[in-house]
Amino acid sequence: MTMSADTAAAPPPAVSPAPFAVGLTGGIGCGKSTVADMFAARGATIVDTDQIAHALTGPGGDAMAAIVAEFGAEFAAADGALDRARMRALVFAEPAAKARLEAILHPRIRDAALAAAATATGSYVIYAVPLLFESGSWRARVARVLAVDCPESLQIARVMARNGLPEAQVKAIMATQVPRQLRRELADDIVSNEGDIADLAPQIERLHDLYLAFSKRTTTIPSQRL
Ligand SMILES: Nc1ncnc2c1ncn2[C@@H]1O[C@H](COP(=O)(O)OP(=O)(O)OP(=O)(O)O)[C@@H](O)[C@H]1O
Ligand SMILES: [Mg+2]
Repeated sequence: MTMSADTAAAPPPAVSPAPFAVGLTGGIGCGKSTVADMFAARGATIVDTDQIAHALTGPGGDAMAAIVAEFGAEFAAADGALDRARMRALVFAEPAAKARLEAILHPRIRDAALAAAATATGSYVIYAVPLLFESGSWRARVARVLAVDCPESLQIARVMARNGLPEAQVKAIMATQVPRQLRRELADDIVSNEGDIADLAPQIERLHDLYLAFSKRTTTIPSQRL
């Protein structure tokens, strides 16, 4: 099927469309940040939900008042940032605390991400969302999902090298994320990051051209992998 045959007869949209947006996801250490930088270098606006979450829980962050109200003043460190070690310990001891924290954070992350996207100056928006399939309603908010994919053995090796973590801890984090095969099935597009960094460039180039083309259209994006 060609794009033009599919879209030529579509009526014009009644309202001006939201900017074309891609969700970028992938397991820990697969190369999301590496890939995001490469799209940014080509003119996409990257909205990084990890950075947003960090700012929300930093000194003076917009989530801190609600966190203190919900969990107590002892969860704010002296500088006003979230006491991350204390929160990690609480969530470990009391798993329901995770849902209480996420109920505070997720709507704020979403609102801040959408606000950032609304002022984006790039040719299209990429939301970097590590847990896109695992949490929230990101899938419904983006036109396409791009997964960065690599074998699990490489994830483990990269994160052990980068963070100095023991293998068991990397595997424990991976166990909280969707399995590789399911992520591959759920994504519209895949970047394979099992070779050298240099192997990424042609893949990013192809996808960037595709996303630029989609961003100029006002009609429905086909859901099949292209
Ligand atoms: N193709 C590659 N070859 C060698 N090293 C790589 C490759 N891709 C990424 N790396 C390295 O592996 C590590 C993980 O990559 P990156 O930080 O981009 O992954 P990520 O998916 O953003 O990780 P996280 O989930 O922790 O945010 C980094 O140190 C990065 O430099
Ligand atoms: Mg990253």
